[in-house]
Amino acid sequence: MTLTELAVACRTYRRFTQEEVPQELLALMVENARISNSAMNQQPLRYVVVRDPELVAAMQPMLHWAAKLPKEIGTPKEGEQPTAFIVVCTEGRDTPYTGVDMGIAVRTMTLTACEGGVGSCIMGAVDFPKVAALLEIPAEWKPRLVLSLGYPDHASVITDLPENGKTDYYVNEDRDYFVPKRSQEDIVLWR
Ligand SMILES: Cc1cc2nc3c(=O)[nH]c(=O)nc-3n(C[C@H](O)[C@H](O)[C@H](O)COP(=O)(O)O)c2cc1C
Repeated sequence: MTLTELAVACRTYRRFTQEEVPQELLALMVENARISNSAMNQQPLRYVVVRDPELVAAMQPMLHWAAKLPKEIGTPKEGEQPTAFIVVCTEGRDTPYTGVDMGIAVRTMTLTACEGGVGSCIMGAVDFPKVAALLEIPAEWKPRLVLSLGYPDHASVITDLPENGKTDYYVNEDRDYFVPKRSQEDIVLWR
C-alpha cells in the first residue's frame, strides 16, 4: 500500500477476529515509533506491549469504547475484542510538545499496523490506574493512551459531513462504521 492508500485505510476498528497479532509486527510498530520525530529529540515516550492472553483479557473492562454509540453497539463483545495492546506512556515532566510527540508516535504505529493488515483503536478513555497496576508499569512511567489491536472484523468508510454538520460517526445494520470528515474547503486556506 502507498502512504496515501494507508491514510485512507487506517481507520478506527472496534471489532476484531481473534487471530493473534504477530509479535514481529508489534515489534515493528514500536520500532517505527522509537525513531519518530520528537520535540528537542527528548524522546519522552515509553511503551508496554501486551500480548499475554490473560493480561489482554484482564484489560478489556478497563477500556471505554465509542462514546458516540450505545454501549451494546460500540463495545466489542467477547469474541470480538482486541487481541493485543500497546500502552503509550510518558516519562518525565510534560513539555508543550509532549502531546505532539504522542500523536506522531501513535499515528506511526497505527499506520505500521495497517500496513500489516492489523486494525487499531487509539484509546484515551481508559482506566489508567487499573491498567498501570495490572501491568506493573514502573511508577515513573505515566500511561497516557492505549492502542487496541487486532485483525478488523468490520468495514469503516469515510463519508462527507451530513447537512446538519455533525461529525458523529455511525453504523449501519451490519455495524459497519461510517466516519464523516470535514471537507478541504471547510478546513484549508490557500494564500
Ligand atoms: C486521542 C484519541 C483518543 C481516542 N479515544 C478513544 C476511546 O477512548 N474510545 C474509542 O472507542 N475511540 C477513541 N478514539 C477513536 C476516535 O473515536 C476515532 O479516531 C474517530 O471517531 C475518527 O474515526 P477514524 O479514526 O476512523 O478516522 C480516539 C482517537 C484519538 C485520536
